[in-house]
Amino acid sequence: MNYNNIIIEEEDKIGRIIINRPEKLNALNKETIAELHDAFDELDQDEDIRVIIITGSGEKAFVAGADISEFADFDEKEGAELSRKGQELLFDFVENLSTPVIAAVNGFALGGGLELAMASHIRVASENAKMGLPEVSLGVIPGYGGTQRLSQLAGKGKAMEMIMTAGMISAEEAQEYGLVNTVVEKKELLPYCEKLAAKIVRNSGTAIAAAIAAVNASLKEGVNGFSVEIEQFGKCFGTDDFTEGTTAFLEKRKPRF
Ligand code: COA
Repeated sequence: MNYNNIIIEEEDKIGRIIINRPEKLNALNKETIAELHDAFDELDQDEDIRVIIITGSGEKAFVAGADISEFADFDEKEGAELSRKGQELLFDFVENLSTPVIAAVNGFALGGGLELAMASHIRVASENAKMGLPEVSLGVIPGYGGTQRLSQLAGKGKAMEMIMTAGMISAEEAQEYGLVNTVVEKKELLPYCEKLAAKIVRNSGTAIAAAIAAVNASLKEGVNGFSVEIEQFGKCFGTDDFTEGTTAFLEKRKPRF
């Protein structure tokens, strides 16, 4: 597929999605959100891709938020639709993808940018990264899952503080709050994420998909996560990967997933 606002690279079973609007600090306009949906879907369906890394192009930004110029004149109905559609097409879609997604946060991750990182399964930030949810400074609130996922990751108190102050935090603070897993030097960001991805690639893709579904279930309203774990655990026993993994262990060799 051809994309105007993103670049896709594939190597060693790792897919890389680079958001490529550096002149607008990779702000998420409608077209970019639609393209990201298609790109995640395409890589998820590709049997040769086992991990996806998402990052931003340019020196300054991962993503500086939703594109403000596109919604500045929206009314209530259009605002609600923007949020609903965005969550469905991109943010919930990424969180529930069967292929693991690593966000390589290479600079500003603001508003929808931080929301995209938080929807990803793992976050790694470079030392220069700055994160925040500045929406209340624009008279609106985070609408791509930010009020929910920030509370889940950093706790309700920190979420309230970050949202109400609309301020930015450093990569170190983000790690302290549990918002990112690791902080690395800027030049080490992609190599680190690739090493992490390579460790994931060695394991069973079907088991990892089951683990994503089970872990996500712990935070879903009205869903019993323990029941989902039992169901997903059972399903693993019917997979070729389970046969290969257990056989390889008993034969004292490495599994070939
Ligand atoms: N939506 C639309 N355009 C954006 C944008 C966004 N969220 N963030 C940055 N841009 C654009 C700027 O308008 C500017 O475009 P221009 O050159 O055509 O004027 C360009 O990207 C560069 O941004 P600029 O503000 O000049 O860079 P900076 O280094 O001075 O400041 C930020 C960087 C991130 C602090 C600043 O761009 C900013 O506050 N952006 C908005 C963040 C935000 O509120 N996001 C949440 C949206 S809900």
